[in-house]
Amino acid sequence: MLSEFFDTVARKTTSWRELLKTNEADVLAERLRSIPDRLASAKRIGGDSNQPEAVRVAAAGLLARDDSFRADALKILAALLVPKSSADIQRSAIRALGVSGHVEVPNVIAEVWPGLGPEMRLVALDELLGREPWALALVGLVEQGRISPNALDASRRGRLLRHGSGRVKQAAAKIFSEGGTTSRAEVVQRFRPALALAGDASRGGIVFNKLCVTCHKRGEQGNDVGPNLQSVVNHPAEKLLVSILDPNASIEPGYTAYSAQLSDGEEIYGIVSAETGNSLVMKQADGKTRTLLRSGITALRSANLSLMPEGLEAGMSPQELADLIRFLQTP
Ligand code: HEC
Repeated sequence: MLSEFFDTVARKTTSWRELLKTNEADVLAERLRSIPDRLASAKRIGGDSNQPEAVRVAAAGLLARDDSFRADALKILAALLVPKSSADIQRSAIRALGVSGHVEVPNVIAEVWPGLGPEMRLVALDELLGREPWALALVGLVEQGRISPNALDASRRGRLLRHGSGRVKQAAAKIFSEGGTTSRAEVVQRFRPALALAGDASRGGIVFNKLCVTCHKRGEQGNDVGPNLQSVVNHPAEKLLVSILDPNASIEPGYTAYSAQLSDGEEIYGIVSAETGNSLVMKQADGKTRTLLRSGITALRSANLSLMPEGLEAGMSPQELADLIRFLQTP
């Protein structure tokens, strides 16, 4: 595959044009000489609205890997990021934007943003969060009102607020006041009255589906990023209240959040769920799993925080918290 070829070249930190200069007579050179033609036809196909969308995305994905064609790729991908494209097409278009690494990507996302559905918005946000300059641009877009702050849930806000880069962190602190200056203890205090309310497990299930399933399983439902919450059915309400409102008060072993910086500039945030000799498996807050080659990781750091975000109560009333606790205690 030509795309794998580009990736291999990128890892060697050279370009196919450089390789072409140094390899004149071998098989590789033949391959290299065919690239300009193939890129030109990818540009033609990608820009042709009569071609199937999947073919156009693949063509753009290829163009996105080459300096001279990156801007063309962005144009094609933006045109595909419209509500009429299927979720699969949109997902691969966003992923291809991510691969391009182009400075203009945050702007492209902002342009198509109004037409993106809730799931695609999260996919797009995660691409932006994955590179430091884009994360900074994202904060700027929120500041300018092009992307609403509510589009970012507690977990994604937390990633910006605790970002490894000082400038991202500072910019984020200006626009998101994480629960204002309220310390967690105050929040726990404020929601304590929930313990005296009668909870309704079925309404609690709705809250759970809204705020918790991305990370927790209960029975068959949900992702297993955090512990399966079947394990807390016997926990007293008081303990559950604190687990939900102050996740960092006690972190279950193995669930500390890490961020891995990759050599291509991408940053992965999640828990390290497995480690082998030459790779590391990370589970991200959206339930996705990524296997990272150690050789491609430039830095790995732990913020000593739970992957479970603070501030989940922002989407809950005390009654809803009481319902949620009831739901968690129901076998
Ligand atoms: C972004 C992922 C994420 C989200 C969203 C999330 N959690 Fe968690 N949760 C975790 C992780 C990771 C842990 C384990 C680390 C820890 O104990 O903080 C955890 C731990 C817990 C625990 C303690 C489990 C134990 O064994 O003691 C409870 C209870 C819990 N979560 C409830 C919830 C509820 C209820 C929600 C929704 C309101 C929620 N969580 C949302 C990731 C998440």
